[in-house]
Amino acid sequence: MKRNVYAYIHTIGCQMNTYDSEKFMVILAAMGYEKTLDLEKADIVICNTCSIREKAQEKAFSFLGKIAGRKNSSKRPISVMAGCVAQQEGREVFKRIPNLDIVLGTQAFSRLESHVQAVQEGRTRIADTDESNEIFELMPDGSEEQKVTRFVTIMQGCDNYCTYCVVPHVRGRERSREPEKILQEIRALAGDNVKEVTLLGQNVNSYGKKEGVCSFPHLLEQVSAVDGIQRIRFATSHPKDLSDDLIAVMRDNSKVCNHLHLPVQSGSNRILKKMNRKYTKEIYLERIARLRSQCPGVALSSDMIVGFPSETREEFQETLDLVKTVEFDGLFAFSYSHRPNAPASTFSDEVDEQEKMARLSELLELQEFYTRKKNLACVGNVEPVLVEGESAKKRTGHDREEDGLPQMTGRTSSGKIVHFLSPDTVPGDILNITIEKAYAHSLWGRV
Ligand code: 5AD
Ligand code: SF4
Repeated sequence: MKRNVYAYIHTIGCQMNTYDSEKFMVILAAMGYEKTLDLEKADIVICNTCSIREKAQEKAFSFLGKIAGRKNSSKRPISVMAGCVAQQEGREVFKRIPNLDIVLGTQAFSRLESHVQAVQEGRTRIADTDESNEIFELMPDGSEEQKVTRFVTIMQGCDNYCTYCVVPHVRGRERSREPEKILQEIRALAGDNVKEVTLLGQNVNSYGKKEGVCSFPHLLEQVSAVDGIQRIRFATSHPKDLSDDLIAVMRDNSKVCNHLHLPVQSGSNRILKKMNRKYTKEIYLERIARLRSQCPGVALSSDMIVGFPSETREEFQETLDLVKTVEFDGLFAFSYSHRPNAPASTFSDEVDEQEKMARLSELLELQEFYTRKKNLACVGNVEPVLVEGESAKKRTGHDREEDGLPQMTGRTSSGKIVHFLSPDTVPGDILNITIEKAYAHSLWGRV
């Protein structure tokens, strides 16, 4: 009898990597592999890697170094480095991890199966970083974990060339998937009880522009017409491309969630220019004012980089001032990290590491105040919440006699996490929940 074979996939980095990892599993399932969460049991291990900052990149080397470095070769599964670090480093990876089997670049997904077969036939050290700029289409096979919310990548690559960013160098030029392929995938997901999709791209506002296929606002309209889909989210938007048409769809289409992630990166015009962001602080604030006037109560989140080369204390202060002016609902703040091929890595006047860390903590501390403030402002509201499942961590913010009821979790349209007790709810329900308490990163409510 043939023994079962197992695949373990470790995903580092952004939501796009999560999506790509699901596709890897579809390929491996067709090859006869079953998914396992037990690393020891795995016959093949894929690490889907991220190179956006050095820290993420090092995590990948450390994880795969341990797997491929196992002394006992019979305990060594087939090991694959996939994704952005693979694309960036190519064969160089073998210098650090000599026993790794496959380096699979970001445009080589379609060849995963043949590379694995080659390794099974005795080939070693395969590196595939060919830049075909292809879009690999693979529909869901229904075997994925049952979830009510899923990611769908609508475009790949990026043409913006922000000077700090490695993405255009590892993910290639921007290219959009055909709308019909995207809709076909979302219909399949909806048939599997998925209620919410998050459309992914580095700059979704420029979706379809190059190809002239369909605009992003129009795509949103089409997705919202798919039977069963109740909510649509999307990320990421570039401030320079945030159009009035998109704002209008957010205002008029009730399935499009009331949240926008709009990375600003810095509050200083000089730094924004050096970053090649193509907008000023004033333009950013104007776009936000416009959005807020059209979509009252819209939640806003952003990304910020501190310690970009030559950023002065005063310029960092402008970033803090911008955070105070906008009052974001959430903020992802990063300390600047040099990336290979990114032009900023040659810029002079690096900010020293200690100073970067001090700026990062100061910014995060300021944001904590606004995150809490925004959460507190929800108390007393009745919010429609899409139930995602049972809470992983139990909160004890409720009455004792209610202990024992299942504690569920879901999100508001604005993307805030809500925990509540309910005996008879199932994932996928949308419930009206009265928000009773606000915590630092979540809300507590009652059905
Ligand atoms: N250093 C620090 N942060 C970075 N980001 C992108 N490149 C770098 C870098 N070199 C951040 C940006 C981006 C987010 C995904 O990661 O804020 O929006
Ligand atoms: Fe990187 Fe800028 Fe493209 Fe975002 S828009 S992926 S930060 S180059």
